[in-house]
Amino acid sequence: MAQDDLFKKVISHCKEYGFIYQSSEVYDGLSAVYDYGPYGSELKNNLKQYWWKSMVQMHENIVGIDSAIFMHPKIWKASGHVDAFNDPLIDNKDSKKRYRADVLVENFMDKIEVKINKEVAKAKKRFGDAFDEVQFRSTNPRVLANVEKYNTIKDRLADYMSNSKLDELKALIEELGIACEVSGSKNWTEVRQFNLMFSTQLGNIAGEEGKLYLRPETAQGIFVNFLNVQKSTRQKLPFGIAQIGKAFRNEIVARQFIFRMREFEQMEMQFFVRPGEEMKWYEYWKDARLKWHLALGTPEENLRFHDHDNLAHYANAAADIQYNFPFGFKELEGIHSRTDFDLNSHQELSGRKLQYFDPELNENYVPFVVETSIGVDRMFLCAMSNALVEEVVPGTEGKESTRVVLKLHPALAPVKCAVLPLKRNDDNLTGKARAIFNKIKYSFNAQYDDSGSIGKLYRRQDAIGTPYCITVDFETLEDDTVTIRERDSLAQERIHIDKIEEVVRQRIDMKQLFVE
Ligand code: GAP
Repeated sequence: MAQDDLFKKVISHCKEYGFIYQSSEVYDGLSAVYDYGPYGSELKNNLKQYWWKSMVQMHENIVGIDSAIFMHPKIWKASGHVDAFNDPLIDNKDSKKRYRADVLVENFMDKIEVKINKEVAKAKKRFGDAFDEVQFRSTNPRVLANVEKYNTIKDRLADYMSNSKLDELKALIEELGIACEVSGSKNWTEVRQFNLMFSTQLGNIAGEEGKLYLRPETAQGIFVNFLNVQKSTRQKLPFGIAQIGKAFRNEIVARQFIFRMREFEQMEMQFFVRPGEEMKWYEYWKDARLKWHLALGTPEENLRFHDHDNLAHYANAAADIQYNFPFGFKELEGIHSRTDFDLNSHQELSGRKLQYFDPELNENYVPFVVETSIGVDRMFLCAMSNALVEEVVPGTEGKESTRVVLKLHPALAPVKCAVLPLKRNDDNLTGKARAIFNKIKYSFNAQYDDSGSIGKLYRRQDAIGTPYCITVDFETLEDDTVTIRERDSLAQERIHIDKIEEVVRQRIDMKQLFVE
């Protein structure tokens, strides 16, 4: 499936099969806000469970919390979000369309990358097996010129972004001849900073004093609870605190479905370490987090690290794990070495000590922090893009047919096993199928369905990613055996109904993900 096609299909599949709906659709929707439907919420819960088990339950030295969304407004002053959590905004004067100035430049850079890759692909086709890609990339004049252009723009963008050089950023957009995709004009406003935090007001305090923010990251709830958690759990460094929860950002460019949302969910873990040991742990978590993705079956070639040139105000090293989304390689997860910035700032602004007493060194200090941070929704999009497949399968009477199948890892699948009577209008078959469903529903999420012909029922279960279908037929009534059909291989086997739970459990158990 072509990448463009895949993205459209993922979006329509999500709606058609009850994974994701546009929020407030009956009122024409609310931009960049989405609701998860029956299968979407199951998949989302499974993703969160996989993360929680692997981060919290698999580590003796990581504990979980669930902090409030509303926090004291000073927290966002200390964290730097009030002053520095900005995106550079630019408007096109003709279309009135608003853009992120840095994203306009990044999109321009993406086009150069596409040109380079096209050049390589053309040469590969021309030279066949004799093609040496490394040599071609290092000698072809057109590739070299484009690489140089790309790198120059990248360096300038990094400089303008980290030093807030907004005039230079506008000049770069003009120099590159970037036009608005709606009006086609290059008639741009000045670039200005736009703070991404949503604010609201406490009912009992008027004015600035009562101003509250919706948290733009869950991490601060961890930082301000660092000492509470350390003391109540008696953890020794290094140790981590994990949390899953909603975050809110007033994104300027909020497109690409659930990739960039205004209300989303994060899974974050702050790992507190001795100062000076942060780089060791930074590398450790980069490696561990990549393995987490690979265990799900995400192809290695679709994942890559991207080191930040443009470090956030709190970090001394940062990398993204990028996934090859249908619209190209983009950030899926961030791993950041946040130094002691946050704890120090909270210590200063609150006047309370946030220090750890190290019994081995016999001294107090503010720990350094390595953070892993992934958006649940981005992970959802990654899992769906990876899993949605259209394939040709053998049909009845030797004819081939196409099926749409969601090849999710069985541990993530929303429904683990569907029980389907061969005929919907035979009370004996439907009664037996219901009895089997009522038996297995205690073990995992199962589904009973008699709403169509068996072929249609299989197709529907394939489309929602159900790893096993059980067919109840006339033989079942005689000997208590059923046909169990495996989603990916389409293999069918006859087993006793007492074996169903054992067979299904083996495949859906999250334990395999940790072994893998
Ligand atoms: N605490 C660090 C932090 O929040 P970030 O790189 O801004 O770092 C971490 O965000 C992750 O949260 C991203 O890698 C992404 O998966 C997710 N994320 C960030 N903004 C998002 C948005 N607007 N919509 C969906 N997911 C988002």
